[in-house]
Amino acid sequence: MTLKEEYLNKIDKTRLPKHIAIIMDGNGRWAKQQGKERVYGHQHGVNAVREAAEGAGEIGIKYLTLYAFSTENWNRPKEEVDALMELLVKTIHAETATLNKSKVRLMAIGDLESLPPNCYKELLEAINETSQNNGLTLVLALSYSSRWEIVNAAKKIAEQVKQGKLDVNDINDKVFAANLTTKNIPDPELLIRTSGELRISNFLLWQCAYAEFCFLEKMWPEFKREDLFSAILDFQQRERRFGKTSEQVKI
Ligand code: FPP
Repeated sequence: MTLKEEYLNKIDKTRLPKHIAIIMDGNGRWAKQQGKERVYGHQHGVNAVREAAEGAGEIGIKYLTLYAFSTENWNRPKEEVDALMELLVKTIHAETATLNKSKVRLMAIGDLESLPPNCYKELLEAINETSQNNGLTLVLALSYSSRWEIVNAAKKIAEQVKQGKLDVNDINDKVFAANLTTKNIPDPELLIRTSGELRISNFLLWQCAYAEFCFLEKMWPEFKREDLFSAILDFQQRERRFGKTSEQVKI
């Protein structure tokens, strides 16, 4: 039996996390280990994106969010930012037909209007062309950071109060969540980060309130669907208490 088959047999398909989020980290270090430029790592990172998306689709995960570009990533050297944007445009363009064939719906979160116009345009086209698909929803976090998103939500809520459309006393976590870029997307139950770093790096801070974390030593370009399956198995072995006692959740 292959490792993949072994994992697939063990995973309880009735208790899958509905939403998995991934911090794809380690492209640059992986490339350096190979004696190559950082961009080489990002190019190979695309294969890992395919592995993760196909694996998620294969097992029946409903939402997969990938941290593809953070607000802070704009501070990287211009050549790297340009190369990443070009890679995004090329990949989205080349993969749209495959996404449709696999019934994948593409979405994006973040300050999308800050993307280069060709990237923004390509993204909106792919989102539009895949909007009717009912399989996996693949969410790309682009020019995204949680603090940006939370401040933005606070501004939107303040504006509604100012216009008399919302009473201050009616602001609650549901209202807040509805003003985030992830509105209508369930919270991630499992967050995976590659490359051995043990940080959340300004990613889905609000949404990950009760997520289980899984940190992998592997660099992102080495990520295979088996790693996704193994993380799901790990998730299923944990006890999720949501603030209650162990005895309460066992009832
Ligand atoms: C983190 O590695 C990775 C990124 C900032 C970019 C991720 C982008 C891709 C995998 C390619 C395109 C993606 C899609 C969705 C088509 P790093 O550069 O921070 O690595 P390091 O920590 O080793 O420097």
